[in-house]
Amino acid sequence: MLVLGLESSCDDSAAALVTGDRVILAQVVVGQDEAHRPFGGIVPEIAARAHVERLPQLIRQVLDEAKAKPSDLDAIAATAGPGLIGGVMVALLAGKGLALAARKPLVAVNHLEGHALSPRLADASLDFPYLLLLLVSGGHCQLLEVRGVGQYRRLATTIDDAAGEAFDKAAKLLGLAYPGGPAIELLAREGDPRAVPLPRPLVGSGEPHFSFAGLKSAVQRAAASGAHRPADIAASFQQAVVDCLVDRTQRALAACDAPTLVVAGGVAANQQVRSALADLAQQNRRAFSVPPGWLCTDNAAMIAWAGAERFAAGLTDPLDVPARARWPLDADADKVRGAGVKA
Ligand code: KG4
Ligand code: ZN
Repeated sequence: MLVLGLESSCDDSAAALVTGDRVILAQVVVGQDEAHRPFGGIVPEIAARAHVERLPQLIRQVLDEAKAKPSDLDAIAATAGPGLIGGVMVALLAGKGLALAARKPLVAVNHLEGHALSPRLADASLDFPYLLLLLVSGGHCQLLEVRGVGQYRRLATTIDDAAGEAFDKAAKLLGLAYPGGPAIELLAREGDPRAVPLPRPLVGSGEPHFSFAGLKSAVQRAAASGAHRPADIAASFQQAVVDCLVDRTQRALAACDAPTLVVAGGVAANQQVRSALADLAQQNRRAFSVPPGWLCTDNAAMIAWAGAERFAAGLTDPLDVPARARWPLDADADKVRGAGVKA
């Protein structure tokens, strides 16, 4: 089985060719950090225009690299949401065009399902169900039960910022370049994680959710005080995020007999996050799986793989499938979410 994956839901334009037996024949990711840097965050309009310019060439590039033609594909998988809607439409419409021209099935992939299934692309031994998935990205921070393709139960989410969003905001407060996660991780190496006292919102609380807004405000105060080295603030902030992720995940692990702890999403590229969660799994005698860092941040290999999994399960989509800015993995949890709880 050969699947083309397309991704443009945020600020990375990406294309990849992946086989049903987990071989990535070709993949390319082109970021837009330079274009957004002057604004200190992603400008949706600029992102969408850049995807329009770049994505077609990336599709040609991966097909050429793998010596494949559109007629060789079994399916075309494109992210159809959630994300910045102008960008989402680019990959989805490119995928529809190819599906139409080559008369191939289209798979509209939920970007979050791309992250959720990415550990199975890297780890052939990771079977369903996997309980528990910690999905930590720029837009989401959730604990999920993954029972199979398309089968997700959300156990926890953030009541304010996502973990990656917290990294990005803290980085901005420290005058670091976007994206903030890698910049904070780099600076934190020169700092002392115990130097700056910062809060751990909701740690030890009986409720399952995450919160990072208070941490961001504390970073703002620490930076404004002038009393601390930026590297110490970065290291202390990173440690506080890790402590929050570990505490909330420990709470969820204690409440279920999950055999495996799985982590995915951009923040899972962080070495401190990876090693703290690996330790947590070991302490709880659970198996642990996390994809390599390049598969944690946005890419099209995970979209192609999610497309391959959905195609194998008989899940394809009509050409009128919509692009969606919002698209929760667990729609039921989304319906009953409390005030202020993010999908
Ligand atoms: O999964 P992703 O690439 O895009 C979304 O779907 O959101 O995640 C991007 C987020 C950004 O907030 C970025 O700062 C964060 O992941 N990130 C990291 C690291 N690399 C990316 N956060 C902490 N440490 C990193 N090394
Ligand atoms: Zn993502």
